[in-house]
Amino acid sequence: MTENQTPGRHVAVITGAASGIGYEVATYFATRGASVVGVDLSDAVVELMSALPGDGHLGIARDLTDPAAAQQVISEAIAFAGTPTILVNSAGVALLDKAVDVPAGRWQATLDVNLSASFYMAQAAGRAMIEAGYGRIINLASQAGVIGLDEHAAYAASKAAIIGLTRVLSKEWAPSGVTVNAVSPTVVETPLGKAAWAGEKGERAKAEIPVGRFAQPSEIASLIGYLASEDAAMVTGTNVLIDGGRTSV
Ligand SMILES: NC(=O)c1ccc[n+]([C@@H]2O[C@H](COP(=O)([O-])OP(=O)(O)OC[C@H]3O[C@@H](n4cnc5c(N)ncnc54)[C@H](O)[C@@H]3O)[C@@H](O)[C@H]2O)c1
Repeated sequence: MTENQTPGRHVAVITGAASGIGYEVATYFATRGASVVGVDLSDAVVELMSALPGDGHLGIARDLTDPAAAQQVISEAIAFAGTPTILVNSAGVALLDKAVDVPAGRWQATLDVNLSASFYMAQAAGRAMIEAGYGRIINLASQAGVIGLDEHAAYAASKAAIIGLTRVLSKEWAPSGVTVNAVSPTVVETPLGKAAWAGEKGERAKAEIPVGRFAQPSEIASLIGYLASEDAAMVTGTNVLIDGGRTSV
């Protein structure tokens, strides 16, 4: 990438945009003037995106476990707003079981959303970004991709894989001006985080975080905002932990 390939108005494609971190990230970019294309399994994404601050936003209700969905979504985004400059892969599920009990369907469902959908979205967006000579891709991984947590076999496998995938994409695409990074939060107070870490289990998890609390979606959005900025051109292939010190103890 050369200096003069700086984009004009940013086009941010956000998966999982109807809830939690994805919705917060969509709001973050819309507030800062980007055109946001939000994608989610939930039909609510259509209304939610049209109600974001500013104009030029699009909500697409789509099941991203369909391998064909990613290319369709990126083509629709390009037709609506132009080539994406930012992709945030936030769609995800947390299906927790003891390793000895994980049913094949829940194992596969986890990998289909958390890993495969993120890959196909990155691949489809990456093709367009490489062509444009500019792009920022951020994948939601997790502390569970870095440390072992009970009942997280499928989830951890999907998130550790995302961290590995991020490294490969960053290496292949860096010469084209496309950075690819992963963000690994501790528990974030979203519908997913609250369901997975309710009650006594949550209190014990909180006690293991040196900062003494769970993260807020806005804190994750700020980090993603930096990684998605033009200033972050030298940051690629990394997994940024945002965990209140949880994984360093
Ligand atoms: N909340 C946490 O504690 C936490 C911690 C670490 C990492 N993460 C990761 O951050 C990401 C966002 O999590 P969140 O807490 O905002 O969750 P959330 O449940 O609030 O939002 C996830 C969104 O993804 C959407 N989604 C699920 N399956 C989909 C599919 N097949 N196609 C399209 N959309 C689909 C859901 O409809 C939902 O709107 C996930 O990848 C999650 O694993 C979350």
